[in-house]
Amino acid sequence: MTPSTPEAPDTGASADPVEFPIARSCPFSPPDAYAPMRERGTPTKVAVPGGKEAWLVTGFKDVRAALSHPASSSDARHPAFPALGDGEQAVAAELRPFIRMDPPDHTRVRRMLVGEFTVKRVREMRTAIEEICREQVEYLLSRPMPADLVGDYANRVSTTVICRLLGVPMEDLEFFRRITSVSGARTSTAEEVGAALADLFGLIDRLIDEKAQSPGDDLISRLVNGPLERGEITRHSLLSQIGITLNAGHETSRNMIPLAALDLLDNPDQLDLLREDPSLWPGAVDELLRHLSVADVITLRVATEDIPLEGATIPAGDGYIALLAAANHDPEAFPEPGRLDIARSQRNHVAFGYGVHQCVGQNLGRLEIEVALRVLFEKVPTLRPAVPVGDLPLRSSSAIFGLEEVPVSW
Ligand code: HEM
Repeated sequence: MTPSTPEAPDTGASADPVEFPIARSCPFSPPDAYAPMRERGTPTKVAVPGGKEAWLVTGFKDVRAALSHPASSSDARHPAFPALGDGEQAVAAELRPFIRMDPPDHTRVRRMLVGEFTVKRVREMRTAIEEICREQVEYLLSRPMPADLVGDYANRVSTTVICRLLGVPMEDLEFFRRITSVSGARTSTAEEVGAALADLFGLIDRLIDEKAQSPGDDLISRLVNGPLERGEITRHSLLSQIGITLNAGHETSRNMIPLAALDLLDNPDQLDLLREDPSLWPGAVDELLRHLSVADVITLRVATEDIPLEGATIPAGDGYIALLAAANHDPEAFPEPGRLDIARSQRNHVAFGYGVHQCVGQNLGRLEIEVALRVLFEKVPTLRPAVPVGDLPLRSSSAIFGLEEVPVSW
């Protein structure tokens, strides 16, 4: 990958590109290396796993430009696709989940799902989500101290919510939890991910048959008895689209909820504001999403034509990653970006991405995080970390950033 245009990005001082992904040194902040890259104002070349190179885009304006340009491709079949996990490109190229498709195929599939996540639809789920969170807080409190906020709360909330939405029966929940713990870890080998995906697809395949026979009030039933029955989507594609929705919907909340709880405990003045005035919660959730930017490295792209940015051009044919945490911590867009300020009321962050792939489940994501945190802090007012935050094991190599475990006491 040698950019030949005069606008080609600055490759930085060193001849060898730095390796990517780069680990965070603090769970509440983007990797330290992002700020100097952003200050340089041009994309930085990095080496991604598997011997390829790609450009990192870091400024807020550039990230939005790079994600909304029509030449920005998410198609994993492109040789330059900058996959970060072992086997990720081959799996995505074979399964073609719509997160890794381009219009018009992407538009067609997304349209089938978008109605499931409208503000109105999601609002109707509030009571059910509150019930789930209350049940899971009881479970957390039944555990010996220190309990794990990830395994004993957030993971249980996120898997139960997404399975309820899609119509995965509660008796399959533990099986689903086992599958996702393997497929969500970037440390899993391609074989392990392959076996976990085969299990997931076996489960969805069975559910498609069951819901064709006796439909319920759930997302899988509606897709099976709508687009699949009418021949608008193949069974293979439907399996992939249900699989990505299950995975994306669960993995993000599983990582976001404990991290957000810790972030608030680390900023007690902000938590006090929420305790005094619960109407501040929706704004606080957006600020936590911005501050933590857990989906930082999910936006893998290839430029199918030259993509012009503020200070340089991404050359046609090159892979790039539009870093969401770098954009959300750009001081030109968010003054004092490192400060958690729940009154910031800036919803223009890119924690849910930008452009045609912007998170389809964002209304549900916002609601789930809000309810999970509110119920947690209401029911466990003395919640506190049982180990120093600096000692917590980070999930630096997974597609969605998070913590392996968060021991807590109360
Ligand atoms: C809780 C916080 C969440 C965050 C931070 C988040 C973040 C993101 C981001 C950044 C993207 C864009 C990926 C790209 O441009 O390549 C995305 C897409 C997506 N998200 Fe989320 N997400 C969240 C919750 C959810 C939930 C609850 C669901 C489903 C129930 C969901 C399902 C999806 C799907 C299916 C896509 C692909 C959309 C497309 O390609 O058109 N997400 N998400």
